[in-house]
Amino acid sequence: MRNISLEIVLFYFSLFSFLLPLSCPTSDSVTHAFLECLENHSQFSSYPISGIICTPNNSSYPTVLQHYIRNLRYNMSTTQKPLLILTPMHESHIQSAITCAKTHSLQMKIRSGGHDYEGISYWSEVPFFILDMFNLRSIKVNIEDETAWVQAGATVGEMLYKIAEKSNTHGFPVGVCPTMGVGGHLSGGGYGYLMRKYGLSVDNIVDAQLIDVNGRVLNRETMGKDFFWAITGGGASSFGVVLAYKIKLVRVPAKVTVFDVHRTLEQNATEIVYRYQHVAHKLPKEIFIRLTMMVMNITEGNKKTINASFMSLFLGDSETLVSLMNKRFPELGLKKKDCKEMSFVQSYIKWTNYALGTNCDIGAPKVLLNRAYNSTHLTRWHSSKSRYRPSGRSRTPQFQKKKNSTHLKRKSDYLKEPIPKDGLEYICKRMIELEKPMLTFNPYGGKMAKITPSAKPFPHRAGIICKIQYATNWKENDVKESEHYVNLTIMLHTYMTPFVSKPPREAYFNYRDLDLGINHNGHGSYFEGAAYGDKYFKHNFKRLVHIKTKIDPDNFFRHEQSIPTLPS
Ligand SMILES: Cc1cc2nc3c(=O)[nH]c(=O)nc-3n(C[C@H](O)[C@H](O)[C@H](O)COP(=O)(O)OP(=O)(O)OC[C@H]3O[C@@H](n4cnc5c(N)ncnc54)[C@H](O)[C@@H]3O)c2cc1C
Ligand SMILES: *[C@@H]1O[C@H](CO)[C@@H](O)[C@H](O)[C@H]1NC(C)=O
Ligand SMILES: *[C@@H]1O[C@H](CO)[C@@H](O)[C@H](O)[C@H]1NC(C)=O
Ligand SMILES: *[C@@H]1O[C@H](CO)[C@@H](O)[C@H](O)[C@H]1NC(C)=O
Ligand SMILES: *[C@@H]1O[C@H](CO)[C@@H](O)[C@H](O)[C@H]1NC(C)=O
Ligand SMILES: *[C@@H]1O[C@H](CO)[C@@H](O)[C@H](O)[C@H]1NC(C)=O
Ligand SMILES: *[C@@H]1O[C@H](CO)[C@@H](O)[C@H](O)[C@H]1NC(C)=O
Ligand SMILES: *[C@@H]1O[C@H](CO)[C@@H](O)[C@H](O)[C@H]1NC(C)=O
Ligand SMILES: *[C@@H]1O[C@H](CO)[C@@H](O)[C@H](O)[C@H]1NC(C)=O
Ligand SMILES: *[C@@H]1O[C@H](CO)[C@@H](O)[C@H](O)[C@H]1NC(C)=O
Ligand SMILES: *[C@@H]1O[C@H](CO)[C@@H](O)[C@H](O)[C@H]1NC(C)=O
Repeated sequence: MRNISLEIVLFYFSLFSFLLPLSCPTSDSVTHAFLECLENHSQFSSYPISGIICTPNNSSYPTVLQHYIRNLRYNMSTTQKPLLILTPMHESHIQSAITCAKTHSLQMKIRSGGHDYEGISYWSEVPFFILDMFNLRSIKVNIEDETAWVQAGATVGEMLYKIAEKSNTHGFPVGVCPTMGVGGHLSGGGYGYLMRKYGLSVDNIVDAQLIDVNGRVLNRETMGKDFFWAITGGGASSFGVVLAYKIKLVRVPAKVTVFDVHRTLEQNATEIVYRYQHVAHKLPKEIFIRLTMMVMNITEGNKKTINASFMSLFLGDSETLVSLMNKRFPELGLKKKDCKEMSFVQSYIKWTNYALGTNCDIGAPKVLLNRAYNSTHLTRWHSSKSRYRPSGRSRTPQFQKKKNSTHLKRKSDYLKEPIPKDGLEYICKRMIELEKPMLTFNPYGGKMAKITPSAKPFPHRAGIICKIQYATNWKENDVKESEHYVNLTIMLHTYMTPFVSKPPREAYFNYRDLDLGINHNGHGSYFEGAAYGDKYFKHNFKRLVHIKTKIDPDNFFRHEQSIPTLPS
């Protein structure tokens, strides 16, 4: 049963790669025609394009390519590499890229932070190039009206740092991983530990700047209601190139409280996890408790157990938190000494440090700015001619230190009923057999349950206890080993089938998972798209398809899991 969809995918994959060489001109001739077109387009421009073109002949090519690869599973010799990488400094570069890619029918991949779990911002089965947004990352915070304009290539860490520079009582709801890019994270949902209080990132976006398939620069007003709706949760890469989002900041107390307590099976973890499912999504919306279950060795007896970690952010002080927890969730046995009070931005760093194994950079004091790229090279918002220096050299990423990336696989699920105790025992046994895969529960309720499922493309709102993430990390740089670990992750996902949402078995769009289906953007693209679209977007999928058909009828903005157009 479980591998039917995977097998279909693999079948289409092999079928397609077989047909490929017949229909494509040689990549070198395409590259040269494309380059000529780019040069022609920019010859009279004040923003020449030559300095931002990086081909495999440039010595910086491997550095630029690998710099924003966050899943080493897609950093192997077998991974298809781009024909070239464009690193735009100005919107005209993006306009030229779109025009010339259309002319030469070349696939364009847009990359901001490179955290896509399946790496689809930087590889493809068909010849392609990368539009790499890292140079466009200015951030303008306006504390008076509690908003900020943030360019797509900024990281969420840089964004929170800039907000914290201006105010310690403002923040923004994003995932806890400072190296994620604004372009992907904010366009595909964006959940984190403020979700129960303030919803997702997309629930707090008030404007956007985007370049469409005709090269027009649009904002919320000029793009219209539907278009704006689509790029706040439907993934922008099916619709255009996001230059920036304007976000509404949210208020946080000057002091917040965090804790991270662990319980093993021997310390009643099963009972506590069982209770957690009844409590966590019903607590006041100021409390967020993430549960992570992982397999651990016990030295004595050479045994294995499950270590359940309960990691929390509370928008308030520790005294209030402890008394509330002892009333509502006494099974956890939270003590005052488990709690630490700190500023909001410190809590973000603390969580990043707690969440070991998440594959985000950890450890540096200014961790939020640690994108391993020299931040003095930030470009200006709407970079003016005087500031634009097309030297070509300073724009090569400079490594500050080796970053911690692993090979990884992620999958997601939604829990709508508590898992019974014997179900939890069964899952723990299976996890101990599989050993590597971890389970993380993120509680819903609060604001999430109050937002209607069609307010944004993201449909998973009321009636949900938790979002579940399946996570496996490994070091082996080997295709066969990778397949093995991916298989283990799929097995755990299969064991969970009786306990999670069905049908459709819902999934979170920003937790990209190609097992749900791959689009070849040919004749069957609507039906291929519906396979993953129903899971990511439920009833909102159809609206996304209609919007897509209207604004990008020729499907220029396409990829392995893009929103298809209606069949003609
Ligand atoms: C270690 C790690 C931790 C994570 N933690 C969380 C979390 O806590 N919460 C959460 O919600 N998610 C989390 N994610 C998932 C994350 O939200 C998504 O992977 C997100 O898409 C990353 O954005 P990016 O810009 O870094 O990725 P990219 O790989 O650059 O892009 C992802 C997708 O967005 C498109 N895109 C990027 N920039 C643009 C643009 N400017 N215009 C149009 N399309 C664009 C790309 O083409 C691609 O399809 C995590 C991922 C990782 C690797
Ligand atoms: C580029 O411009 C030159 C002359 O200006 C012209 O000969 C050539 O055909 C143009 N190439 C493309 C791809 O437009
Ligand atoms: C790549 O090489 C070309 C030609 O040598 C040069 O014009 C361009 O500036 C180089 N690009 C980068 C990013 O170094
Ligand atoms: C790279 O260099 C080789 C050898 O000089 C040349 O044949 C090829 O056309 C060049 N490619 C690009 C994209 O410039
Ligand atoms: C990615 O692969 C290249 C080429 O094999 C290798 O040099 C590089 O170290 C890899 N990146 C990481 C972060 O391991
Ligand atoms: C586990 O729970 C039982 C009763 O529910 C209790 O008696 C026991 O002390 C608990 N053990 C631990 C280690 O907390
Ligand atoms: C447990 O120990 C075994 C054998 O010593 C080792 O291979 C495995 O990686 C360990 N597992 C964990 C989760 O630490
Ligand atoms: C459980 O895991 C955490 C890290 O998530 C670790 O700090 C803790 O020591 C582990 N618990 C035990 C009992 O080893
Ligand atoms: C990478 O991870 C190791 C432990 O896994 C840690 O010691 C090291 O400090 C990390 N490096 C960075 C740059 O975060
Ligand atoms: C960043 O670049 C500037 C100027 O290019 C340099 O003075 C500074 O030392 C660099 N900082 C780091 C951390 O590399
Ligand atoms: C992974 O699963 C597939 C399908 O069940 C199987 O064909 C393949 O041999 C497995 N690969 C590994 C390395 O376990």
